[in-house]
Amino acid sequence: MSKFWIAPSILSADFSRLGEDVQKVLSAGCDIIHFDVMDNHYVPNLTFGPYVLQCLKKYNICAPIDVHLMIKPVDNLIPVFANVGANIITFHPESSYHVDATLNLIKYHGCKCGLVFNPTTSLDILNYVIKKLDVIVLMGVNPGFSGQKFIPSVLKKIVLVKKLINNYSPSTLIEVDGGINIDNIKDIADAGANIFVMGSTIFGSKDYKKIVKKIKCRLNVLTNIKK
Ligand code: DX5
Ligand code: ZN
Repeated sequence: MSKFWIAPSILSADFSRLGEDVQKVLSAGCDIIHFDVMDNHYVPNLTFGPYVLQCLKKYNICAPIDVHLMIKPVDNLIPVFANVGANIITFHPESSYHVDATLNLIKYHGCKCGLVFNPTTSLDILNYVIKKLDVIVLMGVNPGFSGQKFIPSVLKKIVLVKKLINNYSPSTLIEVDGGINIDNIKDIADAGANIFVMGSTIFGSKDYKKIVKKIKCRLNVLTNIKK
Protein backbone atom coordinates (compact mmCIF):
# COMPACT_ATOMS: atom_id res chain seq x y z
CA MET A 1 0.00 0.00 0.00
CA SER A 2 1.50 3.33 -0.97
CA LYS A 3 1.00 6.45 1.06
CA PHE A 4 0.23 9.85 -0.42
CA TRP A 5 1.71 13.24 0.43
CA ILE A 6 0.39 16.60 -0.76
CA ALA A 7 3.09 19.16 -1.52
CA PRO A 8 1.87 22.68 -2.30
CA SER A 9 4.31 24.65 -4.46
CA ILE A 10 4.88 28.11 -2.99
CA LEU A 11 5.41 29.46 -6.51
CA SER A 12 1.67 30.14 -6.48
CA ALA A 13 1.51 31.47 -2.90
CA ASP A 14 0.85 35.06 -1.89
CA PHE A 15 4.37 36.44 -1.44
CA SER A 16 3.18 39.58 0.33
CA ARG A 17 2.34 37.29 3.30
CA LEU A 18 4.27 34.11 2.53
CA GLY A 19 4.71 32.72 6.04
CA GLU A 20 1.03 33.05 6.83
CA ASP A 21 -0.05 31.53 3.50
CA VAL A 22 2.28 28.54 3.97
CA GLN A 23 1.06 28.03 7.54
CA LYS A 24 -2.51 28.06 6.21
CA VAL A 25 -1.97 25.28 3.64
CA LEU A 26 -0.28 23.19 6.29
CA SER A 27 -3.16 23.69 8.72
CA ALA A 28 -5.47 22.67 5.88
CA GLY A 29 -3.79 19.24 5.86
CA CYS A 30 -0.88 19.47 3.41
CA ASP A 31 2.28 17.51 4.21
CA ILE A 32 5.36 18.95 2.48
CA ILE A 33 6.28 22.43 1.21
CA HIS A 34 7.57 22.42 -2.38
CA PHE A 35 10.13 25.18 -2.99
CA ASP A 36 10.74 25.98 -6.68
CA VAL A 37 14.12 27.59 -7.31
CA MET A 38 14.51 29.06 -10.81
CA ASP A 39 17.48 30.96 -12.25
CA ASN A 40 16.35 32.43 -15.59
CA HIS A 41 19.04 30.24 -17.20
CA TYR A 42 18.10 26.58 -16.85
CA VAL A 43 14.45 27.72 -17.01
CA PRO A 44 13.04 30.99 -18.38
CA ASN A 45 11.86 32.31 -15.00
CA LEU A 46 13.42 33.72 -11.85
CA THR A 47 12.10 32.96 -8.37
CA PHE A 48 13.66 32.85 -4.91
CA GLY A 49 16.68 31.48 -3.07
CA PRO A 50 17.91 30.24 0.32
CA TYR A 51 17.10 33.50 2.13
CA VAL A 52 13.37 32.94 1.58
CA LEU A 53 13.68 29.41 2.97
CA GLN A 54 15.50 30.79 6.00
CA CYS A 55 12.61 33.25 6.52
CA LEU A 56 10.06 30.42 6.40
CA LYS A 57 12.05 28.55 9.04
CA LYS A 58 12.15 31.70 11.19
CA TYR A 59 8.38 31.83 10.82
CA ASN A 60 8.34 28.36 12.44
CA ILE A 61 7.36 26.36 9.38
CA CYS A 62 8.17 22.84 10.55
CA ALA A 63 6.91 20.71 7.63
CA PRO A 64 9.56 19.07 5.43
CA ILE A 65 10.87 21.43 2.73
CA ASP A 66 11.30 19.93 -0.73
CA VAL A 67 13.71 22.11 -2.70
CA HIS A 68 13.33 21.70 -6.46
CA LEU A 69 16.41 23.18 -8.11
CA MET A 70 15.91 24.45 -11.65
CA ILE A 71 19.33 26.08 -11.82
CA LYS A 72 22.55 25.55 -13.74
CA PRO A 73 25.18 25.03 -12.43
CA VAL A 74 23.56 23.26 -9.51
CA ASP A 75 26.28 22.22 -7.03
CA ASN A 76 27.19 25.57 -5.43
CA LEU A 77 23.81 26.19 -3.86
CA ILE A 78 23.28 22.69 -2.43
CA PRO A 79 25.26 23.24 0.82
CA VAL A 80 23.59 26.64 1.21
CA PHE A 81 20.07 25.20 0.95
CA ALA A 82 21.00 22.32 3.28
CA ASN A 83 22.32 24.81 5.87
CA VAL A 84 19.10 26.82 5.92
CA GLY A 85 16.96 23.74 6.49
CA ALA A 86 16.11 21.96 3.22
CA ASN A 87 15.01 18.37 3.84
CA ILE A 88 14.78 17.08 0.27
CA ILE A 89 16.84 18.48 -2.61
CA THR A 90 16.10 17.49 -6.19
CA PHE A 91 17.68 18.60 -9.46
CA HIS A 92 17.45 17.90 -13.19
CA PRO A 93 20.20 15.52 -14.44
CA GLU A 94 20.99 17.81 -17.39
CA SER A 95 21.78 20.67 -15.00
CA SER A 96 24.68 18.80 -13.36
CA TYR A 97 28.11 18.08 -14.85
CA HIS A 98 28.45 14.93 -12.71
CA VAL A 99 25.11 13.58 -11.55
CA ASP A 100 26.51 10.99 -9.16
CA ALA A 101 28.74 13.58 -7.49
CA THR A 102 25.81 15.98 -7.10
CA LEU A 103 23.71 13.25 -5.49
CA ASN A 104 26.59 12.49 -3.11
CA LEU A 105 26.86 16.17 -2.25
CA ILE A 106 23.16 16.33 -1.29
CA LYS A 107 23.48 13.22 0.89
CA TYR A 108 26.71 14.46 2.47
CA HIS A 109 24.79 17.52 3.65
CA GLY A 110 22.15 15.36 5.30
CA CYS A 111 19.27 15.80 2.84
CA LYS A 112 17.20 13.30 0.93
CA CYS A 113 18.00 13.40 -2.77
CA GLY A 114 16.13 13.06 -6.03
CA LEU A 115 16.34 13.49 -9.78
CA VAL A 116 13.75 15.42 -11.77
CA PHE A 117 12.77 14.38 -15.29
CA ASN A 118 11.11 16.74 -17.75
CA PRO A 119 8.30 15.22 -19.84
CA THR A 120 10.72 14.45 -22.71
CA THR A 121 13.87 13.67 -20.72
CA SER A 122 15.06 10.08 -21.08
CA LEU A 123 14.99 7.87 -17.99
CA ASP A 124 18.15 5.96 -19.00
CA ILE A 125 20.26 7.39 -16.21
CA LEU A 126 18.02 5.57 -13.70
CA ASN A 127 19.79 2.35 -14.72
CA TYR A 128 22.83 3.70 -12.93
CA VAL A 129 21.51 5.66 -9.97
CA ILE A 130 18.04 4.45 -9.01
CA LYS A 131 19.17 2.78 -5.77
CA LYS A 132 20.62 6.04 -4.56
CA LEU A 133 17.43 8.06 -5.02
CA ASP A 134 14.97 8.79 -2.22
CA VAL A 135 12.60 10.29 -4.75
CA ILE A 136 12.14 10.38 -8.52
CA VAL A 137 10.31 13.49 -9.70
CA LEU A 138 8.39 13.38 -12.95
CA MET A 139 7.43 16.77 -14.34
CA GLY A 140 3.87 16.91 -15.61
CA VAL A 141 4.75 20.10 -17.51
CA ASN A 142 7.86 21.74 -18.90
CA PRO A 143 9.51 23.45 -15.93
CA GLY A 144 9.37 27.22 -15.48
CA PHE A 145 5.84 28.25 -14.64
CA SER A 146 2.88 27.22 -12.56
CA GLY A 147 -0.62 26.96 -13.99
CA GLN A 148 0.28 24.88 -17.07
CA LYS A 149 -1.69 21.94 -18.43
CA PHE A 150 -0.60 18.40 -17.53
CA ILE A 151 1.07 16.60 -20.49
CA PRO A 152 -0.86 13.30 -20.79
CA SER A 153 2.11 11.18 -21.99
CA VAL A 154 3.66 11.62 -18.53
CA LEU A 155 1.16 9.09 -17.15
CA LYS A 156 2.93 6.29 -19.06
CA LYS A 157 6.24 7.56 -17.75
CA ILE A 158 4.98 7.27 -14.18
CA VAL A 159 3.93 3.65 -14.80
CA LEU A 160 7.36 2.91 -16.26
CA VAL A 161 9.17 4.42 -13.28
CA LYS A 162 6.89 2.57 -10.86
CA LYS A 163 7.94 -0.72 -12.50
CA LEU A 164 11.62 0.18 -12.20
CA ILE A 165 11.13 1.08 -8.54
CA ASN A 166 9.31 -2.16 -7.78
CA ASN A 167 12.13 -4.13 -9.38
CA TYR A 168 15.20 -2.28 -8.21
CA SER A 169 14.54 0.22 -5.42
CA PRO A 170 11.25 -0.33 -3.55
CA SER A 171 11.81 2.44 -1.03
CA THR A 172 12.15 5.20 -3.65
CA LEU A 173 9.10 7.46 -3.90
CA ILE A 174 7.54 8.95 -7.03
CA GLU A 175 6.76 12.66 -6.98
CA VAL A 176 4.77 14.29 -9.79
CA ASP A 177 5.14 18.03 -10.30
CA GLY A 178 3.04 20.33 -12.47
CA GLY A 179 -0.43 20.41 -13.95
CA ILE A 180 -2.11 18.34 -11.21
CA ASN A 181 -5.74 19.18 -10.50
CA ILE A 182 -8.85 17.59 -9.02
CA ASP A 183 -9.77 15.93 -12.31
CA ASN A 184 -6.46 14.19 -13.05
CA ILE A 185 -5.03 13.46 -9.58
CA LYS A 186 -6.69 10.03 -9.32
CA ASP A 187 -5.17 8.88 -12.64
CA ILE A 188 -1.77 10.15 -11.52
CA ALA A 189 -2.11 8.28 -8.22
CA ASP A 190 -3.24 5.10 -9.98
CA ALA A 191 -0.18 5.30 -12.25
CA GLY A 192 2.04 5.13 -9.14
CA ALA A 193 2.65 8.62 -7.74
CA ASN A 194 3.17 9.14 -4.00
CA ILE A 195 3.89 12.87 -3.69
CA PHE A 196 1.66 15.37 -5.49
CA VAL A 197 3.08 18.85 -6.08
CA MET A 198 0.27 21.32 -6.59
CA GLY A 199 0.67 25.06 -7.04
CA SER A 200 -2.29 26.76 -8.67
CA THR A 201 -4.84 24.11 -7.65
CA ILE A 202 -4.20 24.71 -3.95
CA PHE A 203 -3.06 28.34 -3.68
CA GLY A 204 -5.50 29.42 -6.39
CA SER A 205 -8.38 28.10 -4.31
CA LYS A 206 -10.34 30.43 -2.02
CA ASP A 207 -10.75 27.79 0.67
CA TYR A 208 -7.62 25.70 1.35
CA LYS A 209 -9.38 23.33 3.76
CA LYS A 210 -12.09 22.60 1.22
CA ILE A 211 -9.68 21.94 -1.67
CA VAL A 212 -7.37 19.74 0.42
CA LYS A 213 -10.38 17.74 1.61
CA LYS A 214 -11.45 17.33 -2.03
CA ILE A 215 -7.94 16.18 -3.01
CA LYS A 216 -7.89 13.64 -0.17
CA CYS A 217 -11.31 12.39 -1.20
CA ARG A 218 -10.00 11.77 -4.71
CA LEU A 219 -7.05 9.90 -3.22
CA ASN A 220 -9.30 7.95 -0.85
CA VAL A 221 -7.26 8.98 2.16
CA LEU A 222 -9.97 10.87 4.00
CA THR A 223 -9.93 8.29 6.79
CA ASN A 224 -6.33 9.32 7.58
CA ILE A 225 -7.25 12.91 8.33
CA LYS A 226 -6.62 13.66 12.00
CA LYS A 227 -8.84 16.73 12.36
C1 DX5 B 1 7.07 24.20 -12.47
C2 DX5 B 1 7.23 23.98 -10.99
C3 DX5 B 1 6.00 23.43 -10.35
C4 DX5 B 1 4.82 24.36 -10.41
C5 DX5 B 1 3.56 23.61 -10.14
O1 DX5 B 1 8.31 24.46 -13.03
O2 DX5 B 1 8.27 23.07 -10.75
O3 DX5 B 1 6.28 23.07 -9.01
O4 DX5 B 1 4.90 25.40 -9.50
O5 DX5 B 1 2.49 24.46 -10.34
P1 DX5 B 1 1.09 23.93 -10.90
O6 DX5 B 1 0.59 22.92 -9.93
O7 DX5 B 1 0.25 25.17 -10.95
O8 DX5 B 1 1.34 23.33 -12.26
ZN1 ZN C 1 8.60 22.13 -8.77
